[in-house]
Amino acid sequence: MINILVVYFSEHGKTRQLAHWIAEGVERIEGAQANVRALPKVSAVSEQVEPEIPEQGAIYATQQELAECDGLALGSPTYFGNMAAPVKYFLDQSAGAWVQGQLANKPACVFTSTSSMHGGHESTLLSMMIPLMHHGMLMLGLPYSNASLNTTQQGGTPYGAGHITGPNHDNPINEDEKSLAIALGERLAKTAKKLK
Ligand SMILES: Cc1cc2nc3c(=O)[nH]c(=O)nc-3n(C[C@H](O)[C@H](O)[C@H](O)COP(=O)(O)O)c2cc1C
Repeated sequence: MINILVVYFSEHGKTRQLAHWIAEGVERIEGAQANVRALPKVSAVSEQVEPEIPEQGAIYATQQELAECDGLALGSPTYFGNMAAPVKYFLDQSAGAWVQGQLANKPACVFTSTSSMHGGHESTLLSMMIPLMHHGMLMLGLPYSNASLNTTQQGGTPYGAGHITGPNHDNPINEDEKSLAIALGERLAKTAKKLK
């Protein structure tokens, strides 16, 4: 079984919805299983402040799950054109996996939800790639053979999947955004399978 970890932080639920579509893509690949995991909020002094088990939604990701996955999809809302603190905090705890090279040569992809069209959608995706490349992960984007990359009027980029919420956070995830998230999950699972 190919075990793909889909990890995200989501305050208002849009990044969580993208995670769901990526997992859908992963599980369209025979023999691949998506483990969807959330990340808790942190306080201003970068400590985890939430209880160990969330009241609702996916359970929280652990460092062990990160180290043992065959592939990783990492998601964050766009906060100031960058990943949100809980995602960085999760990565900042992964030095053990880094020292032991536990993520090296494993495939990874990234996804984000952003409120405004040009408010850092792509820079957030790129920012999430940097620490994963330090881990030696093999970054996957989306090729333009995905027709939605040419037609999307909202989210979704060659650097990863995405959604534009609009100023009131009420845009639904549209067909282009959904198909690109699924395609990214499929590509991740197929690659993890080949590499394993
Ligand atoms: C601290 C903070 C910073 C934000 N920075 C940006 C930004 O730089 N650009 C943008 O378009 N939206 C920004 N937003 C809006 C979020 O990206 C948007 O609400 C996101 O889609 C929510 O995802 P979620 O539903 O998964 O929580 C910011 C929101 C917060 C709370």
